[in-house]
Amino acid sequence: MCGIIGTLGHADVAQDLLEGLKRLEYRGYDSAGIATLYNGSIERRRAEGKLINLGKVIEKEPLQGDIGIGHTRWATHGVPSERNAHPHATDRVAVVHNGIIENFRELRRELESSGRIFGTDTDTEVIVQLIHHNLSQGLKPVDATSAALERLEGAFALAILFAEEQELMIGARRGSPLCIGWGQKEMSLGSDALALAGLSNRISYLEDGDWAVITRDGATVRNTHGELVERAIRTTALSEKQMSKGNYPHFMAKEIHEQPTVIGQTLNTFFNPLDRSISLPELPFNLLEIERITLIACGTSFYAAMIAKYWFEQIARISVDIDIASEFRYRGTPMAKGGLALFISQSGETADTLAALRFCRKQGQHIAGIVNVSESTIDREADIVFNTHAGPEIGVASTKAFTCQLVTLACIVIATARVRGAISREQEQELSSAITEVPARAAEILNHDDSLRQLSNVLAGARDVLFIGRGASYPIALEGALKLKEISYIHAEGFAAGELKHGPIALIDQSVPVIVIAPSDALFEKTASNVSEVVARGAQVIFLSDSKGIAALGDQAKESIELPTVHSFVAPILYALPVQILAYHTAVLKGTDIDQPRNLAKSVTVE
Ligand code: G6P
Repeated sequence: MCGIIGTLGHADVAQDLLEGLKRLEYRGYDSAGIATLYNGSIERRRAEGKLINLGKVIEKEPLQGDIGIGHTRWATHGVPSERNAHPHATDRVAVVHNGIIENFRELRRELESSGRIFGTDTDTEVIVQLIHHNLSQGLKPVDATSAALERLEGAFALAILFAEEQELMIGARRGSPLCIGWGQKEMSLGSDALALAGLSNRISYLEDGDWAVITRDGATVRNTHGELVERAIRTTALSEKQMSKGNYPHFMAKEIHEQPTVIGQTLNTFFNPLDRSISLPELPFNLLEIERITLIACGTSFYAAMIAKYWFEQIARISVDIDIASEFRYRGTPMAKGGLALFISQSGETADTLAALRFCRKQGQHIAGIVNVSESTIDREADIVFNTHAGPEIGVASTKAFTCQLVTLACIVIATARVRGAISREQEQELSSAITEVPARAAEILNHDDSLRQLSNVLAGARDVLFIGRGASYPIALEGALKLKEISYIHAEGFAAGELKHGPIALIDQSVPVIVIAPSDALFEKTASNVSEVVARGAQVIFLSDSKGIAALGDQAKESIELPTVHSFVAPILYALPVQILAYHTAVLKGTDIDQPRNLAKSVTVE
């Protein structure tokens, strides 16, 4: 949430900052701003709304200078407006901030009583006023900042610019991510490596509590105790090309269509084609000794956890707890030492997931992560990480990262089941073969794009849409509903088909499309009965199944989409695709902002 960038050394720095902000816009897009130093003075341009508005402002009133900071905002304190847009500044200091300063009211009262006058409703402004106050007490910029950082409570990543200091920028992180880009007489700061992709591919990641003094020649980093520390410089493979839409109208469309490839890439890291077996990297714990697994995540990643619970329990015969990170982190769950806590996150930065990870560490759990963004905080804090290879996911609604998480979880389940003796060698081969078919079957499903697009006409006219499924199809029903509501703004709910009679069936009438996720698996007949019940009450059923399922039930459905016949183990991975495509086309019909839906941000780095 909120993207920050800073750079020094580039001529026409405002253009570089705008380009960097474009790559960060997925983090928030309700306002944006840039500040530069020109002839020693802080110059600012800010605009409410999307980055394009800031671009227009800068076109009209260009910003000069070769040092500057920029921000794209997801509002926490203070409505989205130009006045509340970052950078916040006085005539001596300018700041961009990602995070929340929790003690801002107290600091603001204190600073106001010492004469500082505030101009915004944001928590961030206290940082600016505090540093300015320290400067006016005679402290030099570095000391003024260090003293201010000591007073701040909460989470932050900051980039700070000082009037008359053409050679200095300060970056600091506590809670929120920040990295440094190294160049030749050019240095930069950014929320993540994506932001810096056009500026530098040599990146060092700040650790929690670090702050860095950056000049054109390099950076010195201090830790939370003020000690000088070294942070390794790594070369990233990220390129600007990976962050373009190619020939697709939206990132979401591109990312949906990349799934056969990226699922294959992810699978290749586990699958051994010679003996059709799955192997995991060396683990820092013994799978045989794990008595309980806890899976924790947020949003779409949580639905991947839900599906994995079915798999772990049914196939590997091990008990699994699952939880939403924001609920888990404050419940104080007692955990028997030596369990495995597995955190699933596309970004690797979700604040609640990270807090849950740290809680589990204190409870003596082995910490594993499934993460798409390498070098993200979860990637670095976990004892073992299984990286998904989805590539940069820019569309706010997660698609390819989800299916890659599922493939990874499926491989972990097979390996766990084998080690624990829950499956035979033949069963392992059967399950592994089923997974290896996923990329090809996913490609087949993408061929249904046209029929799914036609179906989306039914959804686009609806006020409410229900998704139902049983077993591992139930989380897909939840995911289908989430996708639809986040990008088309249509009210949608997912239900376990067996729960309908306990309440949700009261919602059903002729105006409510009911999307049924029903591969022909062991629970098919049960779902079929639920379909009859909703059809009897006038629902318009849209049926997603395979040829056998459609033959058994097709005549009851208003519409059916025939999906490939696959092993029931991998069906949830594949049935994710049609619900993504349906949501996508419905949103196109509604004319919503698909890649940047209102009020959402891709990386939720605040609670
Ligand atoms: C946000 C995104 C979702 C994502 C969730 C969890 O809400 O919009 O697409 O599923 O965060 O993010 P993570 O990066 O931890 O998977």
